[in-house]
Parts: sequence; C-alpha cells; structure tokens
Amino acid sequence: MPADLTDYVVPDVPKAELHVHLEGTARPDLIRRLAARNKVAIPDGTFEDEDTFRWRDFLDFLNTYDLAASVIRTAADYRDVVYEYLVACAAEGTRYVELISSPDHARAVGLTEAEHRAGIFQGIDDARAQTGIEGRILVSIVRNFGVEAAERTAQEAADNPHEYVVGFNMAGDEAGFPPPDFTRAFAIAHDAGLGCTCHAGEHAGPESVRAALQLPGVVRLSHGVRAIEDPDLVRELAERQIVLEVCPTSNVALGVYATYADHPLPALMAAGVPVTLASDDPPYFGATIGGEYGVARAHFGLDDEQLVAITATALGAAFVDDQTRAALLNGLHNRPLGL
Ligand code: ADE
Ligand code: ZN
Repeated sequence: MPADLTDYVVPDVPKAELHVHLEGTARPDLIRRLAARNKVAIPDGTFEDEDTFRWRDFLDFLNTYDLAASVIRTAADYRDVVYEYLVACAAEGTRYVELISSPDHARAVGLTEAEHRAGIFQGIDDARAQTGIEGRILVSIVRNFGVEAAERTAQEAADNPHEYVVGFNMAGDEAGFPPPDFTRAFAIAHDAGLGCTCHAGEHAGPESVRAALQLPGVVRLSHGVRAIEDPDLVRELAERQIVLEVCPTSNVALGVYATYADHPLPALMAAGVPVTLASDDPPYFGATIGGEYGVARAHFGLDDEQLVAITATALGAAFVDDQTRAALLNGLHNRPLGL
C-alpha cells in the first residue's frame, strides 16, 4: 500500500473483518516483546530489519509466518496478540473481527488447545471490555501440515464447542495441496455446526475454487478472487451468493496481481458476487483493515454507502450467533452521523 494510504482508514465507515490470521496479526515489535518475555531467540530469517518481516514469495512467506509464530508460546502471549490486534482494529472503527486461529501452531510450541483457547478468549474479552469490539474465532487447518493433522484438529474443534469458536477454514499452500484430501476434515467441522470457509483462488485458479466449493459446508471463500478467470464460475458465485473475503493489499503484496488497478474486486462486485474486505496478515503486507477500506475508496472508487454495504455483507456472512449479528447490524444501520 502506498505510504499516503496507510493512515487513510475511512474513519466515518464502520468496518468488519472476516479474514485475518491470528499469528499473522502480531507486528515485529510484539514478536520481539514475546521472544524477550519467553527468553527465546527469534529464528534467523524472520526479519528484514527492525520493523519488517522478511519474505520473498508466497511459500517463503508461509515459512516466515511459522518462524514468527514459534515465539508465541503461552496463553498470555495469545491473549496479548488478540487483544493488541482487536484494540488496533477498534481504533480504526471496526465493530467485528473473525480471527483465523491455528491449533497446529499452538501445538507446535507445546500448548494444549485448552491453554491456546483460554488466551484467545481472554484477549477477546479484554478488547471488548475496553473498546466494545466483538471478536470470534475460526479454527484453521493448514494444508501443508497434512491430512492427519487436519482431521485431528477438526475433530478436536468438533468435540469442544464454545460460543466464540464459530467457524472452520483451511489455509496454507493452495497450489500444492488441493481440497479433495480435506473433505473428511470439513465434514467433521460442518457436522459439528461450524461455519465453513476455505482459502481458494489466491495461488491457484478457478479449478481450485470449484474444488473448495465441493467441500462440505463451504459458504464463503478466503480470497476467491481468481474465480474471475472463469465467467461461468463468477456466475455461479453470484447465483449462490458465495461471499468472498477479499484482501486486495495482500494480493498485490504477494504478486497475485501486479497493481490495485489489475485487481478484480470491482469486476466481481459488478457481476453480483458478494464481497467483504480484509487484511489477511496485516504487518507482513503493510495492511490494516481500515487501510483496506481506504484502498477500496481510493483505488476502486467505492463511496461511503458502498463501503457500509460491504460491512453489512460481512456482518450478514459472519459465523457469529444470530442475536449478536442482529445487534451488530442494528448498530450499523442506526449509527449517529459520522460513526
Ligand atoms: N496463512 C497465512 N496467510 C495465508 C494466506 N494469505 N494464504 C494462505 N495461507 C495463509
Ligand atoms: Zn488468508
């Protein structure tokens, strides 16, 4: 994102975010603080410089993500990551965030899922108490961690329902690990009542989107933007009202599109596909949720009314319980001028 847009967060527009990876919200400064607190070394190759994560391309980014996540070690760490992110979102006018959690990353540092969740839930509660922002989590599997880990993680989520654990997602190496192998994991999550979404149409094309739509329960797509390469698929997304969680700055940073001008968000909207805006892994890509709304205004020409409609789409597609959704939508439509 150009420097002049980073502070341009469209303050008058209430925001909601459905696609942000929990470990991927921690800024370099927080990663350094957690490493110091835990008395662990930050792995070589994590940082380019004081304020910048180092990565070259998508697969290298996934590796750096794992390196940085490896210093998040305790429930208190997870609490701080969630709390600091949600408070920053609230300062940009955000009302609701769904964070993509990763039990496999927590397990890799020796945390039980109960400890992992306790930290996250505390972060959500503390941020709400301070700012009023509402947060929920999706449980994510990581394609390149394999099918066995995926099914284990899905089963653990199914066996431990909680009001804050509302959905299920699949991240990781899209091109190397196509959806069909993960059908059982999605069936477990869907049967347990979790809302399902899946990364697709980011680093692979329409065939990947079609395969993700075959997974049990999938009603949203994380990215999904490369569906634009297949007009029949775009029509299907519009007909079925599949909601795309679009992350323009992530897409440009990772080279999915060369510039914002090449990004298909306006074309998808024109075709009737429901879209939302999200930051994905904000400090890695120089993004914020407010900044994504700013990008949509500055580069895609959306006005405030259209941006509020995007927030309404996100709240409508959120996996949150209906009572909380109604309260959030009510707050959106009955807000004082300028909020
Ligand atoms: N994990 C973290 N960020 C991701 C992304 N943009 N795509 C797939 N997996 C991810
Ligand atoms: Zn993502």
